[in-house]
Amino acid sequence: MINKAIILAGGMGTRMSPLTKAVNKQLLPIYDKPLIFYPLSILMLAKIKDILIIVNKGQLNQYKKILPNGNNLGIKISYKEQSQPRGLPDAFLLGEKFIDNKNVALILGDNFFYGQNLTAKLINCTKLKKGAKVILHKVLKPELFGVAKTNNLGKISLIKEKPKKFISDLAITGLYFFDSKVVEYSKKLKPSKRKELEITDLLNIYRKKKQLSSDLLGRGGAWLDTGSIDDFYKTSAFVSAIENRQGFKIACLEEIALNNKWISRKNVVDSIKFYGNCDYSNYLRRLI
Ligand code: TTP
Repeated sequence: MINKAIILAGGMGTRMSPLTKAVNKQLLPIYDKPLIFYPLSILMLAKIKDILIIVNKGQLNQYKKILPNGNNLGIKISYKEQSQPRGLPDAFLLGEKFIDNKNVALILGDNFFYGQNLTAKLINCTKLKKGAKVILHKVLKPELFGVAKTNNLGKISLIKEKPKKFISDLAITGLYFFDSKVVEYSKKLKPSKRKELEITDLLNIYRKKKQLSSDLLGRGGAWLDTGSIDDFYKTSAFVSAIENRQGFKIACLEEIALNNKWISRKNVVDSIKFYGNCDYSNYLRRLI
């Protein structure tokens, strides 16, 4: 079972400079809320309540302004600072104490997921006991992503980072589920040429033990990575189109917490006071 998760919300956001010079990418807006709300909502949909957010050194106060400790969402949020971007598996070194020898999920702070049956799929992934699991999604340009080749049962036989020669069009998304061995394995990793610990190397350890499985986010689902300015605007347009057509908000944290019965109407009233007079508050008012 997985009851804990880490959001990796540091990084330099180089591709989005100068927007990211003073403000971290995950605090910038995707349409009507900060980017960080979207990966956090995914963890909450997976019913994970114990969450560690890794942020850049010096940016903790900014995050705490918008997500203080999770009380009002019925979850527990803790923070850890990363002094420099040492790669994705650094999450498990920084998070060793938080992980406490338990199984753990990792989501990248700039990844956006949306789709029907997503919640059921996520909950299924949290049932992982041993090994590791990744979520795959078909892409048009696999050469831009880390990709995986699978057998019929979803077991992964090969992974490659940005392959020049076609091996598969299934990209490995930024949501991963690991057993408690992940800390031990991460400690064994050596930095790559770009001086970072690589998630591909970590996943390969599991693959070699035949313990790396996958689930597919099908064509009814959307996975968008918001690494570039263009991606930011495209994802914002996607959220705006859906929200304004259906009248439902994507990644409204209080709504998910309320549906999970983690909070009461009183908490929502407190949130409305906290956010002030805005469209998000109007939506919360309609919920209660
Ligand atoms: P990246 O896309 O590798 O990096 P970035 O977001 O800083 O962007 P750029 O390439 O433009 O500089 O990171 C993916 C996500 O993981 C992103 O949300 C930042 C986060 N991250 C960390 O928090 N710590 C790290 O050491 C790394 C490598 C990434």
